[in-house]
Amino acid sequence: MVGLHHDPVGTLSGLTERYGDIVHFRLGPQRVYVITRADLIRQVLVTNQKSFKKGPGFEAARIVLGNGLLTSEGDFHLRQRRMLQPAFHRRRVAAYGEIMVEEAANTGTMWRDGGLRDIAPDMNELALRVVSRALFGTQVDREAHAIGQAVAEAGAFFDYLTVALLPVLLRTPLPRVRRFKRAIVEIEQATTQVIEARRLDPEAGGEDDLLAILLAARDTEGDGTGMTDEQVRDEALTIITAGHETTGNGINWAWYVLARYPEVEQRFHRELDEVLDGRPPTAEDYPRLRYTEALVYEAMRLYPPAWGIERRAVTDQPIGGYVIPAGAAVLMPTTITNRDPRLYNDPLRFDPERFLGEQAAGRPDWAYPLFGGGTRKCIGVGFAMLEAVLVLAELGRRWRVRLDPAHAVVPQARVSLRPRDGLLVRTELRA
Ligand code: HEM
Repeated sequence: MVGLHHDPVGTLSGLTERYGDIVHFRLGPQRVYVITRADLIRQVLVTNQKSFKKGPGFEAARIVLGNGLLTSEGDFHLRQRRMLQPAFHRRRVAAYGEIMVEEAANTGTMWRDGGLRDIAPDMNELALRVVSRALFGTQVDREAHAIGQAVAEAGAFFDYLTVALLPVLLRTPLPRVRRFKRAIVEIEQATTQVIEARRLDPEAGGEDDLLAILLAARDTEGDGTGMTDEQVRDEALTIITAGHETTGNGINWAWYVLARYPEVEQRFHRELDEVLDGRPPTAEDYPRLRYTEALVYEAMRLYPPAWGIERRAVTDQPIGGYVIPAGAAVLMPTTITNRDPRLYNDPLRFDPERFLGEQAAGRPDWAYPLFGGGTRKCIGVGFAMLEAVLVLAELGRRWRVRLDPAHAVVPQARVSLRPRDGLLVRTELRA
């Protein structure tokens, strides 16, 4: 199973091709079930969701994220979800559109006409800045950035092998373990400081930033109380962690397909020219940037940033003719599901039309488990899609990117699916 560390998607695809929709293997003492069929994934994530909790990766992530929305369980998770939900309401999220466009424009100032540039770090940095600013407002820009960087550093520590060996690894003096531990201390101290300062001076942030909403949230459907500072910290770190690398890589894959398919790029440019007529986009433009939205969905179908979703069975669970025993880990690689010919005709063909008109309307929600499902479905879907569309629109109204023939773009499944050696392109100003 060494392949699972080096090339999880390739290894799992191979197993699925040989053994079918449910594959079982052991990883040391751990029993693992890989499920790739969409309706069976739905059973795990939606229909029988109470019989599963989060899987091994999230258990490990608790070291960084504490008891935030991604890692908490049961009634506590539901209470937190109720309190956070209003912060992700469509109208609230639209207010962050300005930050998204501003950060995209700032990124554009670093691009040179005809220059060769790895734009993957640009997109990841941009997504980190957007979510940090949306969370902490503009007045703590420096702290927000430092916290974001430390979260990115801590997140980079995790991969399949690290998760499996975590208890042992944490006792070693390896430089990467020391860096990881230092990042965690920095994160805790800096976030606690920002929260304490904000409690003392609630006006200190931007208007309606996410932190203000978290601090003011009350569980009105439950006991009416709010969150402790520690809980606010866990939720803030969770939002940064869940919100930046996934979205940054989603945008990276959209640039990649735009560069590969000239007819898609032409339609994208036509839409931008028609809707924007040369001005920067705003959140109000989103409903008219339908083709841009569709190409983002289609890029993420083929290259889903959250490439695998995990659970652990709480009780024995009959799924698809098998019984998944209590305690077993369940891995659902959406990368494979999204390429299933039973769901998508000619699945390897890139075609944004799949997400427009009748084709999109006729497809059940669970056929595209990119954002998960059930009570644990991504709370940031609206945020992520608005960001991807506005960033592509702002940069795409002025720039096009061309792949460098000497540079192969290779997907690599780590915490999220990213271009392994970056995304080296020639940036060109559009006429
Ligand atoms: C393209 C971008 C994104 C993708 C593909 C994505 C994907 C996902 C997936 C698959 C889950 C479910 C995980 C599970 O069930 O185990 C999830 C949960 C979550 N996501 Fe996202 N996400 C994205 C962007 C964002 C953004 C921008 C934010 C916040 C600003 C965010 C915040 C969260 C949170 C807080 C959860 C936990 C929800 C819960 O358990 O109640 N995500 N995301």
